[in-house]
Amino acid sequence: MKVLVVGSGGREHAIVWKLSQSKKVDKIFCAPGNAGIAQLAECVNIKATDIEALADFAQDKAIDFTVVGMDDPLMLGIVDVFQERGLKIFGPTKNAAIIEGSKSFSKNLMKKYNIPTANYEVFDDSKDALEYLKSQSFPIVVKADGLALGKGVLICNNYEEAKEAVIDIMENKKFGDAGNKVVIEEFLVGQEVSVLSFCDGDTIVPMVSAQDHKRALDNDQGLNTGGMGTFSPSRIYTQEIQNYCMEKIFKPTLEAMKKEGRPFTGILFFGLMVTENGVKVLEYNARFGDPEAQVVLPRLKGDLLEILEACVDKRLHEIKVEWEDNAAVCVVLASGGYPLSYDTGFPIFGLDNLHENNIIVFHAGTAKKDDQIVTNGGRVLGVTGIARTLDEAIRTAYQGVEKIRFENMHYRKDIGIK
Ligand code: AMP
Ligand code: GLY
Repeated sequence: MKVLVVGSGGREHAIVWKLSQSKKVDKIFCAPGNAGIAQLAECVNIKATDIEALADFAQDKAIDFTVVGMDDPLMLGIVDVFQERGLKIFGPTKNAAIIEGSKSFSKNLMKKYNIPTANYEVFDDSKDALEYLKSQSFPIVVKADGLALGKGVLICNNYEEAKEAVIDIMENKKFGDAGNKVVIEEFLVGQEVSVLSFCDGDTIVPMVSAQDHKRALDNDQGLNTGGMGTFSPSRIYTQEIQNYCMEKIFKPTLEAMKKEGRPFTGILFFGLMVTENGVKVLEYNARFGDPEAQVVLPRLKGDLLEILEACVDKRLHEIKVEWEDNAAVCVVLASGGYPLSYDTGFPIFGLDNLHENNIIVFHAGTAKKDDQIVTNGGRVLGVTGIARTLDEAIRTAYQGVEKIRFENMHYRKDIGIK
């Protein structure tokens, strides 16, 4: 089969890497891809959001199956356009991707179907939001309704900060139309766990758990980022919690989407907070996490393409999804300055020194310049170590990290310790 993967980050490299092991896959294209992906797939210079051009390409090349890694094309309706043209594609349709694309939608869904989440109110007028804040206790969380590159969530320690957040989002339109509404919600205390799942509209199969380190610096200091590293499994996600989530969160969410006439096919990502008062949903994403995919997919046994095809064909219940009894840790190597400003174009050294089969280097922001791989983004590489236990996987990942260098390279030294 000929497969097209849409996206260009570490997550897409992990998807391409796993698909490349499938016996059914003859050729992989990736749009737009990166220098690491280019070692396994033919990269095509089409933007992930240029849906018509992607559909033309898929038709031209007679692509048998397309997998969307990123969120933006999903919200723009790439799945709908491909389906209209009779092209097979894995991911949620536009009306289901709203579960990630609108926080007011997802919060209202959870309320309507009794899915545990933080208490909240939605506002489409800044004056009402400011009035409401006057009677609240702090900290409190102010969220832009729409997609804001992961930056639209502000934890506010007092009224002044919350007021500034509301004005920035709703009046100054810091995140554009994503700020037409805000969600103001209760601040939850606990540990965050990410659980991704395969969905075919009716059946949901959760993957092994993972935890993400979002802050830029060690000990969870510094700014929020897209994710500086991950590990899988989570130490706190017990069998008991898993059973609770399956009955109270995972199945009810899929059922709710079906009842709303928005059946969800694709990867549904549950951002969970494990609190003293039980597990609550922080957010949903309609795609694999980045860098969660880089620790979860290496633990998947068997053929990823078979599972994704079963989702699209609505026969996920017939498939056995199995996992290795091991652990994985991914350390992100970032450009110094990320998530703010940083320089790119620095040569990356040491990539050829990695031959261990329990270390995988996933490329995120890389490019090829003359015959040299250079930095080309904030998050540059993700080094995944795989071992029997988490402690060993941490050591393995950092052994890989030590072999790689580029100018201004920055990474956290405490990935996997939480
Ligand atoms: P979200 O995009 O909604 O997942 O928010 C991004 C991050 O903000 C989460 O991963 C949490 O670390 C934090 N966060 C979001 N909502 C809350 C909340 N209600 N209480 C505490 N932290 C939160
Ligand atoms: N790492 C979190 C996300 O992909 O949204």
